[in-house]
Amino acid sequence: MLDCAIFHLHQERFVISTQTQIAGSVFANCIMNASGVYCHSAHELDAVQQSTAATFVTKSATLAPRAGNPEPRYCTVPFGSINSMGLPNHGLAYYLDYVSQAQRDFPGKSYFLSITGFNVEEDLALIRQVQASDFAGIVELNLSCPNVPGKPQTGYDFEAVARILEAVFALYQAPLGIKLPPYFDLIHFDEIAAILNRFPLAYVNSVNSIGNGLCVDAASEAVLIKPKGGFGGIGGVYLKPTALANVRAFYERLKPEIQIIGTGGVVNGSDVFEHILCGASMVQVGTTLQEEGIGAFARLTRELKEIMAAKGYQTLDDFRGRLKTL
Ligand code: SIN
Repeated sequence: MLDCAIFHLHQERFVISTQTQIAGSVFANCIMNASGVYCHSAHELDAVQQSTAATFVTKSATLAPRAGNPEPRYCTVPFGSINSMGLPNHGLAYYLDYVSQAQRDFPGKSYFLSITGFNVEEDLALIRQVQASDFAGIVELNLSCPNVPGKPQTGYDFEAVARILEAVFALYQAPLGIKLPPYFDLIHFDEIAAILNRFPLAYVNSVNSIGNGLCVDAASEAVLIKPKGGFGGIGGVYLKPTALANVRAFYERLKPEIQIIGTGGVVNGSDVFEHILCGASMVQVGTTLQEEGIGAFARLTRELKEIMAAKGYQTLDDFRGRLKTL
């Protein structure tokens, strides 16, 4: 079993499990891809399926296919990455087809379908198509893409978030979570959490990239990516303290029925452990997966289990949310 490893500690044998659950679906592992990485095509999604990842989330699907922003639109930097992909995707029908097939091939497994509209009408049209399909997994509504020129990040407009969730939940009662941008002010955590607590959300996924950073190459005196004059979402190591803060802040403020998926700055097993310690029930990997490839899942899972073994933890429940303060 990939999710269970037998560790020997002080001559005792005990089984370590990284099993978790989101919205009632059980997952053999707590580590998966972040939307945007290894999830654009069926080929990439197959690779995640065949790995030790818990499951997959698709690239955020729009109503129609999109080419996204002009290239170069992704660049690795010393402590992470900058991207301005602009939501390139094959359109909702493509990802619904893929997930339907996966549901038939692997009955009992649950998958995440990411969707994103450019206004509330489009969000509702996407939801209606999901409802009309045989999709039986968890919908992730992306309210946080920073990379579509002229379109602000919805998650920073609290009234819009409330309006969208009112309309969505009037229509859709199956498990649905949202992907949020990072927040940086405790008052903003209070305000957005008060709104989210009004809805039957399955989970909050924190965080998307830090929007509209700028990376510069001193040698060429130029920006690193083409769209938006070089501005783009920042991921990787830069993101971890902000991601942990958002996971923790929401864990402390949201009603217990709303779970947390932690995303941001996961490079090693300790990063996964820290996300769970702050309150995450699932941890997503973006930049590291992009850089290292699919083998990252097995490495991160092994490193997490080694940390759990050293601390005598057998399940995630032994430490989830139990961050100590001084
Ligand atoms: C993109 O496609 O620009 C990235 C997706 C996102 O940040 O939501």
